[in-house]
Amino acid sequence: MNNIVWHQHTIDKHTRAEQKSQKPLVIWFTGLSASGKSTIAGALEQILTHQGYHTYLLDGDNVRHGLCKDLGFSDADRKENIRRVGEVAKLAADAGLIVLAAFISPFKADRQIVREILPEDEFIEVFVDASLEVCQQRDPKGLYEKALRGEIKKFTGIDSPYEAPQDPEIHIHADRDSVAEAVNQLLAYLDSSGALKSGYEPVKISA
Ligand code: ADX
Repeated sequence: MNNIVWHQHTIDKHTRAEQKSQKPLVIWFTGLSASGKSTIAGALEQILTHQGYHTYLLDGDNVRHGLCKDLGFSDADRKENIRRVGEVAKLAADAGLIVLAAFISPFKADRQIVREILPEDEFIEVFVDASLEVCQQRDPKGLYEKALRGEIKKFTGIDSPYEAPQDPEIHIHADRDSVAEAVNQLLAYLDSSGALKSGYEPVKISA
């Protein structure tokens, strides 16, 4: 960057993380619309917050009301959406937070760019895997129906591609497992990777 020099401030990421007694992380949820990304991320955030962690949830539908309201759903706009959100996630992790990001983020290359701007052990890719058929059946916002009628163009899974992660840190089978099971899978992973302070209380799964 021409004529712009990075300023190293005294209070750094390590200090902020230590003050919060936690390891900063970006937990990145990717999957089709209606796969359950936001629901699972929100449920995990509730548990982490109750256990005393400091979190921030970035959600596609919400971010597109503000930071990214100038962007649509062309390939180029989705790329810019993920670039911006990746940078914001990085800033929030720099603030010492556990960031949960829920975006379709359909392109492998864009997710890889986010992975690469973060330290290796701070990016956790979570594939929220539900088949297109299941997502279409759920269709909570009626968007698949509109896309199939041709009223929305470039809808992911219909006339815009989704590139599934090949090797995500966590693969959630969201059309088979409940939200509670998915949250427990995430908590177990975070615990085993040393991200949690002292174990975790599994979420009770009602029959
Ligand atoms: S991304 O592709 O750029 O990562 P993002 O997660 O921000 O997408 O936004 C996806 C949400 O926008 C969907 O859950 C849906 O509610 C809405 N949406 C509106 N139009 C589209 C479209 N053409 N494709 C996918 N999602 C759309």
